[in-house]
Amino acid sequence: MITLSTLRRTFAALIVLFLGTFSVFAVTANAADEETTGARSGPASNIGEPTATNTIKDSYGNVVQYGSDAIIYKSPSTLTGKTAAELRAIGRALYMQNCSSCHGVKADGVLSQGNPEAYPNLVDLGPAVIDFWISSGRMPAADPTAIQAGRKPSRLSALQSLAIAEWVNSLSNAYPYVPVVNTNDASRAEGLNLFALNCAACHTITGGGDALAAGTYAPTLQDSDITATQIATAIRSGPGNMPNYSSSLTDEQVADIVKYVKVDIQNPNNIGGVGMGGLGPVAEGFVALSLGIGILALAAFWVGDRQ
Ligand code: HEC
Ligand code: HEC
Repeated sequence: MITLSTLRRTFAALIVLFLGTFSVFAVTANAADEETTGARSGPASNIGEPTATNTIKDSYGNVVQYGSDAIIYKSPSTLTGKTAAELRAIGRALYMQNCSSCHGVKADGVLSQGNPEAYPNLVDLGPAVIDFWISSGRMPAADPTAIQAGRKPSRLSALQSLAIAEWVNSLSNAYPYVPVVNTNDASRAEGLNLFALNCAACHTITGGGDALAAGTYAPTLQDSDITATQIATAIRSGPGNMPNYSSSLTDEQVADIVKYVKVDIQNPNNIGGVGMGGLGPVAEGFVALSLGIGILALAAFWVGDRQ
């Protein structure tokens, strides 16, 4: 039987539900709205490759750097201030000690006993890729049978890593060179859009990382030890099971993503509400809905029941 009190109770519950849902969405829709920088000047330009107009060569005609205002790709010797010859000498010795047992003395993945392709060929990967795998601690590999080499504190210094990269590159010059990212004009809002479109499927929208098929995983990007150079190199080269975005993103777009990862993913700034460990919008929304609506529903019953 419908009584006046049932009607009143239902009406009160509906109003509270409406207000509750509204407030939940008001709280959870935060960072996405925050436009951070103005529009970038100039057209989108380079896609991370040396061209006739964006390249600087040394007196021997070797490319020492190339790029755009957003990213300059530099050779190891440009970055260290040592000559290429000095770096090669250091790098060759270090390579023989730390890498040749697996990747072979010619870095082509062929070991002295002649088993080809047991380990990846490093020739023609480009100095940025060699530097990425060493500086992120993946190489030298701790466990060569592991399905995926994980990130660790690097066993070699920045100079040693670049020296090995220079020596390997002296066997056959290849790109990408090491990207130095300028995020001054980059847009975090654009970065968020591009990240959601290109990266979130594997790394999740919060950058927390996730498991992929067959024992592989997309690692967390929330670790602030992951440098701008490493993020840009990962995007340009696609380590392991990650695709490479070598021509589908411009340098400006890569810089936008790098800025978004460095600022918003590695140092998240929760605008109001509880951070909840950055679980992500679905999980956080679920907590907000069940807790928020639950409490409001209880309140509604309490309001409606007094007679
Ligand atoms: C114990 C054996 C071992 C040693 C030593 C080792 N590597 Fe590796 N390396 C591997 C294995 C195995 C992989 C594939 C791992 C993966 O895909 O996660 C690999 C992958 C790589 C890759 C990625 C190749 C690609 O095609 O993307 C690079 C670059 C690399 N190693 C460089 C080095 C350098 C430089 C050193 C020395 C500082 C080194 N490695 C030492 C076993 C080794
Ligand atoms: C298909 C899944 C996939 C997509 C899409 C993807 N990644 Fe990855 N990413 C991976 C995997 C797998 C690795 C680890 C590779 C390895 O160590 O062998 C990785 C590694 C990385 C690393 C290195 C992190 C570390 O621990 O050193 C960065 C940085 C990165 N990705 C950024 C990005 C960005 C930015 C995008 C979007 C432009 C992106 N990824 C898109 C799967 C993906």
